[in-house]
Amino acid sequence: MLYETRGPFRSLVDAKAGAVDRSIYADDDIYQLELERIFARAWNFMCHESQIPKAGDFFLSFIGEESVIATRDKKGELQVLLNSCRHRGNAVCRAESGNARSFLCTYHGWTYGLDGSLIGVPGYKDFYHEQLDKSQWGLVKAGKVASYKGFVFATMDPEAPDLEEYLGEVGRMGIDLIAERGKDLVAVEGVQKSIIGCNWKLAVDNLFDFYHPQISHASATMSGFRKQVDKLNAEERELAAKAGIAGGSGVGRPHRVVFGAYGHCVGGPRLTPEIRAIRTQLADKIDSLIDDDFRDWPQAQEALGEVGIDTSGHPNIFPNLWVASQGSQLSLRLPKGPGRTEIWWFTFIDKAATEKRQKDRVERGNHVFGAAGLLEQDDGENWDQSTRAMRGVIARRYPLNFAMGSGHDEVKVASNTAYVDGPINEHAQLWTYRSWADWMDADSWAALKQNHTVPPEAGARP
Ligand code: FES
Ligand SMILES: [Fe+2]
Repeated sequence: MLYETRGPFRSLVDAKAGAVDRSIYADDDIYQLELERIFARAWNFMCHESQIPKAGDFFLSFIGEESVIATRDKKGELQVLLNSCRHRGNAVCRAESGNARSFLCTYHGWTYGLDGSLIGVPGYKDFYHEQLDKSQWGLVKAGKVASYKGFVFATMDPEAPDLEEYLGEVGRMGIDLIAERGKDLVAVEGVQKSIIGCNWKLAVDNLFDFYHPQISHASATMSGFRKQVDKLNAEERELAAKAGIAGGSGVGRPHRVVFGAYGHCVGGPRLTPEIRAIRTQLADKIDSLIDDDFRDWPQAQEALGEVGIDTSGHPNIFPNLWVASQGSQLSLRLPKGPGRTEIWWFTFIDKAATEKRQKDRVERGNHVFGAAGLLEQDDGENWDQSTRAMRGVIARRYPLNFAMGSGHDEVKVASNTAYVDGPINEHAQLWTYRSWADWMDADSWAALKQNHTVPPEAGARP
């Protein structure tokens, strides 16, 4: 049976009816358990290798609410260390990024090496009488650290499966959709950060949502802030109509949702070979707005496979990494309490691309999403209002509706990957919440491995 009841959190996500209990966005106990059972257990995105290329380079990131230092030790190995001194807990690194030989705690001066080992203790001889076993008091280290195509992840739980196994076909596809987009991909210096008064899951749920743009972003569109994109879309639609091809840009475009284990998912428009051919025609006219020509590169085709090559929706690497593939950006939705989320935006450019294209990517990175992005201002306002309402004692009696498309689209499987093609739907959102419930019901990696929802079989109707 595709949907079954498994545990208490499973009962808050009624996958059959497409209903989700509002308490999951407001309840503090649930939030605390998310930090434990999801963030302290999952592989969390840290940074891109281009942000820490040399020994001693570091970048501060988060696992749940906890600050961690992603760094390269003297041997050039990636390390992820909890940014909390073992003496009284003070942060040992305050700068967001940089290069260091060691991390000196500014409270009493304990000093840690780039691999987290405790290498210096003031008064070691006179006050500790040389009896402190330094080998036992290094910084807490991640259980596992790994990089997939330059994207660095860490998990605090040594029982977690290895990164590639964790990502599976769909998580890897999600990262391939950005990693294969450039021949020499690097992160632009600086990460845009802002706080939105919303539950982190609403920000994740929205990334699959192609139902809202025509309403939420109507004024942004009317302002003409993306004139070139609108022009391109209109021309694409016109050419598609002339050639009798379904869709073209916009609401009518066919959708694809790809289902992965452990909650990884991709949802959004499908880019058929026919539409791609039209885009290639338009590429000469509006070069830098066409960022999909990487799909013609043999290496990208091999990595993405037959399902991924046509997929141009938004991947979420569970729990909170949005691969905003159309803009070559990554966004982290970092939890800061049940009603607060810090949004981070990393922008990537291909050093091998034309200067104009690189410039356009950065410009788009500044004006679409992020604190100054017109779209994110619209989105944030909605998430904020939704989150406020979730706290209502009356509102909480009534679940939210995620039933769009339920039972209407048939699962296909190709290259070990389950997906549905159809009109706009909410399969991806519901998949994410079902998987969330699996994570919350499992008290260890062993339990989660045994009891997670596996991608549906061919012929199923999610
Ligand atoms: S808190 Fe770090 S040395 Fe005391
Ligand atoms: Fe939006």
